[in-house]
Amino acid sequence: METQDFFHVADAGTVESIGPRARVLRGFAQEQAGELLASIEQIVRIAPFRHMTTPSGYAMSVALTNSGSLGWTTDRRGYRYTADDPDSGRPWPAMPAVFARLASDAARRGGFEDFEPDACLINEYAPGARLSLHQDKNEHDYGAPIVSVSLGMSAMFLFGGHARSDLAAKVPLHHGDVVVWGGEDRLRYHGVMPVKDQPHLVLGSRRINFTFRKAGR
Ligand code: SIN
Ligand code: FE2
Repeated sequence: METQDFFHVADAGTVESIGPRARVLRGFAQEQAGELLASIEQIVRIAPFRHMTTPSGYAMSVALTNSGSLGWTTDRRGYRYTADDPDSGRPWPAMPAVFARLASDAARRGGFEDFEPDACLINEYAPGARLSLHQDKNEHDYGAPIVSVSLGMSAMFLFGGHARSDLAAKVPLHHGDVVVWGGEDRLRYHGVMPVKDQPHLVLGSRRINFTFRKAGR
């Protein structure tokens, strides 16, 4: 565990290209991690993490919540963005300024100017939780990138092609890493392999991932 942490510090600041317009920004969110986690605590007090049901009737292994003017949800009727939390009927918690700034800074570093997210999907992974290969395609237009921030336990991110059957690259993501993808890479399949129980110094046996999107008009 400690060894792994030394490695993150060592590669913080490096940028890896995983596609023509897809970059891994190592350690980009490391310094803000404490602030981000404090904000999440506030968010989950209003909109707790929950295991949503997919249209095919399965409960997702990943627990999720949202912040921003729009939030992503799924139930038996399908996937969509809503202004209100369906559990409480109240608006999703507002996106903290620190989130929006980090997202637009990361997008710029990844080659996308003027990214103004209106949705932040927050995923919580316990050991064994996974996310099968999918495209992020419920957003209104695909001109804006996706910015994904990882905190806590490490995970193996899968970054595939434009068909589900395309071979996916395995990209290890650690606490503080940020992935940005857009342009011709915007609709590439991606997912997360079952997370191994390698407790993190700050978050223990949890991984938290935020994905920032421009979902509305
Ligand atoms: C996502 O695709 O929504 C999340 C990806 C991740 O958890 O790294
Ligand atoms: Fe996704």
